[in-house]
Amino acid sequence: MDQSRLDDLTARLRAAGCVFAEDEAALLAERADDAAHLEALVARRVSGEPLEHVLGYVDFHGLRVAVDPGVFVPRQRTTLLVDEAVALARRAGRPARLPDGGPGSGPGGRPEGGSDGRTVVVDLCCGAGALGLATAVSLGGDETVALHASDVDPAAVACAARNVAAVGGTAYEGDLFDPLPAGLRGRVDLLLANVPYVPSGEIPLLPREARDHEAHVALDGGGDGLDVLRRVATEAPAWLAPGGHLLTESGERQAAGAVAVLGRAGLVARVVRDDDIGATIVVGTLPAET
Ligand SMILES: C[S@@+](CC[C@H](N)C(=O)[O-])C[C@H]1O[C@@H](n2cnc3c(N)ncnc32)[C@H](O)[C@@H]1O
Repeated sequence: MDQSRLDDLTARLRAAGCVFAEDEAALLAERADDAAHLEALVARRVSGEPLEHVLGYVDFHGLRVAVDPGVFVPRQRTTLLVDEAVALARRAGRPARLPDGGPGSGPGGRPEGGSDGRTVVVDLCCGAGALGLATAVSLGGDETVALHASDVDPAAVACAARNVAAVGGTAYEGDLFDPLPAGLRGRVDLLLANVPYVPSGEIPLLPREARDHEAHVALDGGGDGLDVLRRVATEAPAWLAPGGHLLTESGERQAAGAVAVLGRAGLVARVVRDDDIGATIVVGTLPAET
């Protein structure tokens, strides 16, 4: 594309309020199949659709992750949760490699849920499935990780199913733990749960892109933002392996409340922060002896 056409696109995007208009123009031009397609993509972006929905992907933790319209766009700050999950698995001496031939009784010689020496990772409230995918890739892929993802939103599940297939993962549709294979009970090493945590009263304060283009169910965490986390925490000890971890993202002001929620559920909780990327996560560990 010639520079004057690119400059024109940049000007239109800037006039529509896109802060990184030059970068966005280049990305959209790269994504478009032809001039008509480019015009359609730019029109969507100018109308306020998130760039990631228009492009159909987000770059997250060094991976290109598909994001369909309406599905929550994985945020860059959430890489902290992935990094912490990977560090915890490595500290525990995981992942272990699948023994040659596999001891299992399930498909491919693996028992349901993957209790075959692999690290069991569940991405609950998975959205596009980016957290589970990035964690599994960092830990070595499907040879070392059994990945299960679930979400209540069918659009998210369809999107996650495509993303996690790259590491042999499975996506399920339903409320929280309901759709997961029962065989995972007591065996989950890493429970990634970036649940909705925006207090209901603060939804109107979110950027328009989120309010208008991400599902309400992806954002609203109830009165204090911790309603979904309370439900997850109540059930988590039954699903975690001894010494397993629940990792959840939190607003900075909510972190103490989230620690209390996990503590009441019997998990040993701590806060991890990264001020450079504005991220706060809370990690709850099921004591090895319960
Ligand atoms: C904040 S988004 C996070 C998505 C993804 N974990 C990420 O970080 O990109 C929360 C997700 O929780 C899902 N969700 C909300 N309530 C749920 C429930 N009761 N059961 C399962 N998923 C739920 C939403 O559909 C949404 O995809």
